[in-house]
Amino acid sequence: MKASVNIGLLGLGTVGTGVVKVLTQNAREISQKVGVPVTVKKVMVRNPNKARSIDVSVTTDIDEIINDQDIDIIVEVMGGEQPAKEYMLRALNSGKHVVTANKDVVAKYGRELFDAAQANNVDFMFEASVAGGIPIIRPLKQCLTANKISEVMGIVNGTTNYMLTKMTNDKLDYQTVLAEAQAKGYAEADPTADVGGLDAARKIAILSSIAFNTRVSLADVDVEGITNISPVDIEYARELGYVIKLLAIAKDNEECGIDVRVHPAFIPAAHPLASVNDVFNAIFVRGNAVGETMFYGRGAGEMPTASAVVADIIDVARDIRHDISGRILCTCFEQRNFCPAEQTNSAYYVRLLVEDQPGVLAAIAGAFGAHNVSLNSVIQKRKVNNCAEVVLITYLVSDANIRRALNTIKDMSVLTTVQNVIRVEAQQID
Ligand code: NAP
Ligand code: HSE
Repeated sequence: MKASVNIGLLGLGTVGTGVVKVLTQNAREISQKVGVPVTVKKVMVRNPNKARSIDVSVTTDIDEIINDQDIDIIVEVMGGEQPAKEYMLRALNSGKHVVTANKDVVAKYGRELFDAAQANNVDFMFEASVAGGIPIIRPLKQCLTANKISEVMGIVNGTTNYMLTKMTNDKLDYQTVLAEAQAKGYAEADPTADVGGLDAARKIAILSSIAFNTRVSLADVDVEGITNISPVDIEYARELGYVIKLLAIAKDNEECGIDVRVHPAFIPAAHPLASVNDVFNAIFVRGNAVGETMFYGRGAGEMPTASAVVADIIDVARDIRHDISGRILCTCFEQRNFCPAEQTNSAYYVRLLVEDQPGVLAAIAGAFGAHNVSLNSVIQKRKVNNCAEVVLITYLVSDANIRRALNTIKDMSVLTTVQNVIRVEAQQID
């Protein structure tokens, strides 16, 4: 029996530092739970001369870690696609277990990594890759595995939720709140992945792959970020009784297939997701046996993310101790169809600038009506550069019809600009 389970840590940034802290602060309890101590033996970084907040010796040579026979688990928290993917594959093929927080690699190369883990009879775990400290991968793969899942929906990006909360509650501007999220260690190295919706898209691709037993890749996700959300939209949302959130949605649409998307949405102020603020994330999962379940907590940050990474480490260490590695394999045993975007339905908020003349509103309403888009409410309350600002909320309409209506309106001479179009997600959770 080994005297300790040893880790090779790749990356000592926000998450890596948190992992060392959790393993150190909770060392006694972790050792009791596993049966032997769990220790960080080697740490790899990019810049060995950088000042660190914790005292560990570092290397820049991956071979020193992968070729170390005494290292059992490689923990990848360096981020990015390459060389992270190559290092993880090499580790798995060397018979080492891998724990990662890297949604970029899991979303794109999950199959390859699972195959390598299976071939080598080792564990591959990635709880921290989705929703930071919130348990969601393990619940889907284990606790809810008896269910047929019909829907996974929620807020899975801490950076944008922090930004939208601050823009709404403190009326701060976009650049200020983005800089705050970066300073707090929530944002990705390249924050365009957060604000552009790609980070959330990778996460919902991972969750829906597990939920629907089908490989869902980034290309299958319809993605829109928050870069077009302005304080004006936030103010209209408030006035109409909504808040704006970046939602990740995966539905099993029985008529047309799997519908997976990320986009900002108006949600009613009384909706449970409306009060999920700051860096917090929340995910609803609907299963045919369990019904509705909700997972809530901090979706990013040093210690919450480290909590999920270290839980995976402890699970792997227990498997090593009991010689039962490689138990939970890839569950993508189906190949479901994807629902084309034009076949999905939604209500919409539309903000237009139009000429301020008699009959314009009727002409716009007529264009919507001609394409079967029924209007729920219309507001016209202010002028911008001599144009009238018109805000409309539609009833539930097909994506194809709203696109056709907007194309017709864009060609009308009375239109100055379509300022914004945002979905309204009015469905209440049971
Ligand atoms: P980070 O603060 O930028 O840290 C990255 C670390 O990896 C740094 O220590 C860096 O070395 C090292 N590194 C990067 N490229 C390397 C290379 N080519 N070779 C060797 N070392 C390299 O990143 P992070 O925020 O901790 O995120 C790490 C991973 O966790 C990412 O996959 C991210 O998506 C995921 N994640 C992050 C959070 C969060 O809240 N931050 C939450 C969930 C998941 P230097 O220190 O020398 O620069
Ligand atoms: N940048 C990510 C977020 C980190 O803001 O949610 C957690 O994956």
